[in-house]
Amino acid sequence: MPPIAPGRTDRHYLMCEPVHYTVSYEINPWMDKTKHTDAGLAVQQWRRLRDTYLDLGHTVETIEPLEGLPDMVYAANGATVVDGVVYSARFRYAERAAEGPAYQKWFADRGYVTHTAAETNEGEGDLLVVGDLILAGTGFRTDRMAHAEAQELFGRPVVSLELVSPHYYHLDTALAVLSSTSQDPQIAYYPPAFSSGSRAVLEQLFPDAIHATSDDARALGLNAVSDGYNVVVAPGAVDLAAALTERGYNPIPVDTSELLKGGGGAKCCTLEIRAGR
Ligand code: ARG
Repeated sequence: MPPIAPGRTDRHYLMCEPVHYTVSYEINPWMDKTKHTDAGLAVQQWRRLRDTYLDLGHTVETIEPLEGLPDMVYAANGATVVDGVVYSARFRYAERAAEGPAYQKWFADRGYVTHTAAETNEGEGDLLVVGDLILAGTGFRTDRMAHAEAQELFGRPVVSLELVSPHYYHLDTALAVLSSTSQDPQIAYYPPAFSSGSRAVLEQLFPDAIHATSDDARALGLNAVSDGYNVVVAPGAVDLAAALTERGYNPIPVDTSELLKGGGGAKCCTLEIRAGR
């Protein structure tokens, strides 16, 4: 008998092994070119993360890592996939530009309908599906115009949220989707990462949301991956883990400290492929 896991649903993920991992440029405040990085350790931590998903019964596919694209490990930025439709990424910085077409090709080669983005957007880094809505970050990477493009493409309401704190430059560094059912969508977020207007919107849409602490945020705890019950989360996010347990979730700490040097955690390494409804 499988353990009882209320709310859990099977997930399909795309990941990219960090064999070329390094910090050779700086495009967010976590990145420091002068700090030593260890690609071997990054691969080890990444494999633990992948194996955690597999052990939880999820499907994981991989895309071939390309030399010269050290941030390609952050698969979440590669695209946004809703109802089997792929909205390609169009990166803000030249250093990552080639990742968009590489991910798009992966999907096209497998028969997915892909849409080439006209507007700058960094995939699921800034576009998060919660129930019937898409929450969309802007302020650092993804253009507001991309929110409109995504809404037209997916036919789902897209809610724009303004990010204001440079360490939390992608929406998935400041907000985690815990449950994505239409009936009971749930999130956790770090209020100081948002403009006051966007905080009010989140408050209205998700009055019961978990508010992460500054310690949780600094550990990149909001960069978590939930299957509706199991939540893979950075070990440093102690308050968040306690709050998750209290709400009936099962937090699973997985150390991605080496990947944090590039400014990413578990969610950044994980692109969710959502089939049709
Ligand atoms: N170094 C990468 C960047 O700054 C990290 C991306 C993290 N990914 C994410 N989904 N937040 O673009």
